Amino acid sequence: MTDSLPISFRRVTPDDKPRVLEICAGVWDGHDYVPSVLDAWLAADDADLIGVLAGDALVGFGHCVWMSSTYAWFEGLRIDSAWRNRGVARALHERMLAWAYGAGAARVGLSVYLDNQPSLRIVESHAFERVAGFVVLEAPAEGAPHARARAAEDVVRVSSVEAADYINRSAFLEQAHGFFPRNWRFYPYALGSEQPLAQMTHLLGLRRGGRLAALACIGAGEAAPTALALNFLDGSPDDMAILARHVLSLAGGAPVEAMAPAAGSNSNALLEVLSGLGFAPWNDFATDVFVYERPIAGRSEGALSSK
Ligand SMILES: CC(C)(COP(=O)(O)OP(=O)(O)OC[C@H]1O[C@@H](n2cnc3c(N)ncnc32)[C@H](O)[C@@H]1OP(=O)(O)O)[C@@H](O)C(=O)NCCC(=O)NCCS
Repeated sequence: MTDSLPISFRRVTPDDKPRVLEICAGVWDGHDYVPSVLDAWLAADDADLIGVLAGDALVGFGHCVWMSSTYAWFEGLRIDSAWRNRGVARALHERMLAWAYGAGAARVGLSVYLDNQPSLRIVESHAFERVAGFVVLEAPAEGAPHARARAAEDVVRVSSVEAADYINRSAFLEQAHGFFPRNWRFYPYALGSEQPLAQMTHLLGLRRGGRLAALACIGAGEAAPTALALNFLDGSPDDMAILARHVLSLAGGAPVEAMAPAAGSNSNALLEVLSGLGFAPWNDFATDVFVYERPIAGRSEGALSSK
């Protein structure tokens, strides 16, 4: 039990799955992504799903995944609608911070949607700092961009080694302040390319004069079981357009979601290419999602290996 709230905490187990799904059904009109990743979360041995209990009833949970032995990422905070606005998420967040700290974290990262006021309040009152921002764009199922889908014959598969090197030198990574997106999770790329690239289903590129001139990294999207997520796209504007149209052809009419680093002037080439193909920004090119980090005082980030 906490001092002021009649709640306690424990790990979520596979037996809790029906209750977790019930809580998710009340989130974002039933469009929560957690049900699609829940089995993986419950099976993972490098992460923890921490539950909040009121009596015996699970009323909320949050997921913590290790991006290195000293970098913890928080995501998927959910509180049952009947229990909101009583400080439960704040208590859970504090519990997760204490747990991550106890397990050796030197830094904690997370992302927040721009108008999620409770989450913004919680992170900003715990000394988290905004370190990156992204604009979300989408091609809805059968939406206008799909009319521009075209498979390009010169698109090649790229090895993860070559992709990793390209990403390291990319304008995308620089504009993203070193974070590589996978949907709403953002990997600090300096910790290594292995984890984020393992989440991608396609690494596709274009070669010009024998060298890799453009790269698209694609993973599973969240809007539908067949949705794709264009997590990374860089190259010349013409090459990015070829790759984006190729990705639309792979989607075959299914939704394609894209994360673009927020440019101060809102005019970077990637945003222009995607909007030129008809991808719709969620909020008129305003930054939709912010990445926050909080270093934990007195901890050093020596080890970069996966936990
Ligand atoms: C976001 C969410 C987890 C918050 O849970 P909660 O238990 O209601 O949050 P808390 O009661 O701990 O409130 C946290 C803070 O936000 C404030 N707050 C709550 N609702 C607010 C609102 N609509 N506008 C502004 N502030 C708000 C609270 O006053 C509190 O601040 P304080 O402690 O300084 O007073 C919950 O609403 C939820 O599950 N939402 C759906 C999923 C989601 O958005 N998850 C987070 C993104 S991963």
